[in-house]
Amino acid sequence: MDEKEIIPSTFIGIQGKDIISFGSGQPDLPPPSEVFSCLPTYNSFKYGPIAGQDNLRQALAEQNKGFDKDNFVITNGASEALDLTLRVIGKPGDKILIHEPYYYSYKPLIELNHLKPLIVKTNEGKIDVQDFEEKVHDASAVLINSPCNPTGRIQDIDTLKIIEKTTQDLKLPLISDEVYKDLIYERENYALSGPQVITVNSFSKTFSMCGFRVGYLFSNDLSIVEKVIGLKSHASMNTNILSQEMAFHATTIPRKIIEDQVAIWKKRRDVIYKGMLDLGLELWKPEGAFYVFPAIKNSMKFVRDIFEEYKVITYPGDWFGAPNRVRFSYALDIEKIEEGLERVGKYLKENV
Ligand SMILES: Cc1ncc(COP(=O)(O)O)c(C=O)c1O
Repeated sequence: MDEKEIIPSTFIGIQGKDIISFGSGQPDLPPPSEVFSCLPTYNSFKYGPIAGQDNLRQALAEQNKGFDKDNFVITNGASEALDLTLRVIGKPGDKILIHEPYYYSYKPLIELNHLKPLIVKTNEGKIDVQDFEEKVHDASAVLINSPCNPTGRIQDIDTLKIIEKTTQDLKLPLISDEVYKDLIYERENYALSGPQVITVNSFSKTFSMCGFRVGYLFSNDLSIVEKVIGLKSHASMNTNILSQEMAFHATTIPRKIIEDQVAIWKKRRDVIYKGMLDLGLELWKPEGAFYVFPAIKNSMKFVRDIFEEYKVITYPGDWFGAPNRVRFSYALDIEKIEEGLERVGKYLKENV
């Protein structure tokens, strides 16, 4: 495998008996069985409303206090919600503030929409507030991701409140990507709020529904919601109506099912975190999502070599703006995590 060839699609769909994949950020746990309950009798097939099915938007509004179903747009995953939002809030050349390390699609999405990323530093995955406060004056919008992919870190509530207040004072749109909001091990989620907050979420992570492609955005700012609907009516029209019905059923499950899943993720987090410390790796303790991001020099080489020599899939930090780190997703069972750690240990022993 040649160095240039490793791009985010390189490992997608790669399977094999002996492969341990710490690659893809998709849950291995199945969706709740309720999601499939509509299938035997489902018989709709026509175009649906561009904003999304009423029952799903209503259910989401009931779960998000202070919002009405008309504040919501159901999208093809959080990915489309992010893309449409960036397209409607920015004009060419505008700067979108993001914190580094960042989710690998942020930069391409910003740049494909003729916008520019404005990078704010983090310390151990936590936003550097001083750097934020200086740079935010040059930004046209701010994009926050907590819990964060790839760091697994959550932002401190004090920091989130500063971000809320500063963006509100400057009248800047604040996009809050909360796709991991239900996967936090340390505290409840702090949902960013305000008149110009656009919250982006998904059924991919909490409900393991990645392939069904259902996400959504909601905002108090109806002018943004309307613009998104206007653009979506040309870009992709309605989101898949069967997937939306399945997502609606996901919203009806008892909270306990999600809490039980978080307990499983937390156990895995503990195993991989301790395992990596035992291997002598430097890393930040993940507080949410399902990623660890240890420091490993020359991450492209590591990722290529450990795949070729040990059949372990990992993602290079270069994709996330941190070339000397490697992302491991722990969306796999503990036995495989332990086997994977053993292989990483062997590789490190041979290569240090
Ligand atoms: C931070 C973040 N935002 C958005 C997405 C996209 O999610 P979706 O499957 O809903 O498009 C991902 C997927 O990994 C993610 O990690």
